[in-house]
Amino acid sequence: MNDIVERINKLKKEKNAIILAHSYQNIEIDLVADYVGDSLYLSRKAKDTNADIIVFAGVYFMAQTAKIISPEKKVLLPDINAGCLMADMINLHQTVDFKNQYPGLPVVCYINSTAEVKAECDICCTSSNAVEIVKSLNSKRVLFVPDANLGKWVESRLDSVEVITYNGNCPVHHNVTVSDIMHARKKYPDAKILIHPECKPEVSVLGDYVGSTSGIINYVKKSNEKRFVIVTEKGVAERLERDYPDKEFIIIKDNMLCDSMKLTTLEEILYALERERHEITLDDSVRELSSNCIERMLRVSK
Ligand code: 13P
Ligand code: SF4
Repeated sequence: MNDIVERINKLKKEKNAIILAHSYQNIEIDLVADYVGDSLYLSRKAKDTNADIIVFAGVYFMAQTAKIISPEKKVLLPDINAGCLMADMINLHQTVDFKNQYPGLPVVCYINSTAEVKAECDICCTSSNAVEIVKSLNSKRVLFVPDANLGKWVESRLDSVEVITYNGNCPVHHNVTVSDIMHARKKYPDAKILIHPECKPEVSVLGDYVGSTSGIINYVKKSNEKRFVIVTEKGVAERLERDYPDKEFIIIKDNMLCDSMKLTTLEEILYALERERHEITLDDSVRELSSNCIERMLRVSK
């Protein structure tokens, strides 16, 4: 493993490349990553970097977002099969059909979506700024694609805004139930329960904290508590266990695993850098329109 890490680090220097890694990645990816975090943090890093090449250790929509924001850079996705089940639930035509059912309403697009879908929407959001973004529209009714759970969670956080949601979800988070949380509360009464808002809103409302992957990690960082139930993909709990050995982390259930996120390996990152594969490309008009959607979010969300 040391050999691969060394070769990756050497290539990064030679090619002026950086590696951005999502917190759900296999934990060894952190050995070569320049930045590890949530979707919003990584988007900002993609925008601000002076690197010529960005290797995105994450899923397709994340690498595509980096390319939208930084079109002059070469963006590489080490495993081309790393998709997102939620992003696959809505395409361009479904977005247009949904909009046509509610003419004139602003459309918020969760970042977990393709560039074509973003190009049809007014403003993007991530799990860490969704409430702020919907609020910024000053509209009594807002369309939200594709995550129904996040959209309804946002609605519950705002006074008198109706969030009309498309029927998408993340199967990893959608599978957590109210009884899973009640059971955890009973078994670990002293633990703080930290939940990602891609869970059903009736699940999220039971959490001590609801937030993005980085939000959950920061909550632990600031807390004096010793025990936490982590209600998101396993990668977050694994990183917390590594970084806070004096605290205890319980993963809500065994199957909190995003298969796509685990496809990327150190070997694939090495090949990606050596052969500059798989490069993300975008049609100019889609890039321009989807860029408006993301840039608007970055202006609103400081
Ligand atoms: P974050 O914005 O919290 O990183 O979430 C991304 C994601 O895909 C969660 O399933
Ligand atoms: Fe997509 Fe869910 Fe995986 Fe996140 S955890 S990348 S929303 S499938």
